[in-house]
This record gives sequence, C-alpha cells and structure tokens, in this order.
Amino acid sequence: MVEHNSGAPGAASVGRRTVLGVGVTGAAGLVLAACGGSSDGAGAAASSSSAAGGTPQPGGSSSQVPVGGAAIIPVGDTAYVVAQPTADEFVAHSAVCPHQGCLCNEVAAGKVICPCHGSEFDAETGAVEKGPATKGLAPATVTVTGGALELS
Ligand code: FES
Repeated sequence: MVEHNSGAPGAASVGRRTVLGVGVTGAAGLVLAACGGSSDGAGAAASSSSAAGGTPQPGGSSSQVPVGGAAIIPVGDTAYVVAQPTADEFVAHSAVCPHQGCLCNEVAAGKVICPCHGSEFDAETGAVEKGPATKGLAPATVTVTGGALELS
C-alpha cells in the first residue's frame, strides 16, 4: 500500500511517499541485513515507548534495502525491518520481537530472526514463522523522501 503525499498540509515535498507495513504477501529471496542489536550478539530489549507507531524518525537510506530483500534499520534505541518487495515499494515493521521484546537483528533467506530465543518472522509481512513468538511483528510506517527513510 502506497500513499502519495502531494501538497497536503504537513506533507514534505512532492515525491514523498508513505508505505504502511501491512498487506503485502508473497516471499522473495531476501538478503542479509545490517545488525541493529547489541554488541554481544544477544540482542537487546527494546523500549516499548519507541516501538512502531510514534513520531517519524530518520533512519538510514533506501539504498540499504535491497529490491526483493529487507534490512534491519536502527532508529534511536529501537529498530525496524524495512523490506522492498519491488523497486520503490517499501514496507516496514517494528523489529521488536513480540515474544519478550528483544530486537531482531538479522534478516536471512526472507526471515527476520530474533537472537534471544530464535523466533522467525516473514520479512515482508512480519508474520510469525517460528516460535516461541505467537504473533507477528507490529506494522510500522516508512516514508521515503529523496532516498532518506523516516520510520515510525
Ligand atoms: Fe524474541 Fe524471545 S524475545 S524469541
């Protein structure tokens, strides 16, 4: 789903687009992404106040997200999974694991992986594919302006 903002009050510039992290189906060969977790590799519990749905915050570049792939984009003390199923179509989910709140820090073979207890999620839809998590990653919003990502 893509919204095109074109001059609405509060909108930035023409060409800015907002994509919600819901409603995308199908899996593509997704690519390993950057690590957004802690330095010890065990992941980090994320602040729930900074999870999906807050004020948009700058976070990386669209060039970090491969077409047909996904990347973990750190933003402040949290992170997001941003996928690009087709060129210029972006979807985002919170990288906060719904099991116990660790930050997922790896994308491999189309799956987002939580380092704490091994839950796996579909990188495009956020759906849980392997427990112990019982629900998927929370949808988030990604806006791309001139190649810069804003996430909330
Ligand atoms: Fe992610 Fe337990 S916190 S699997």
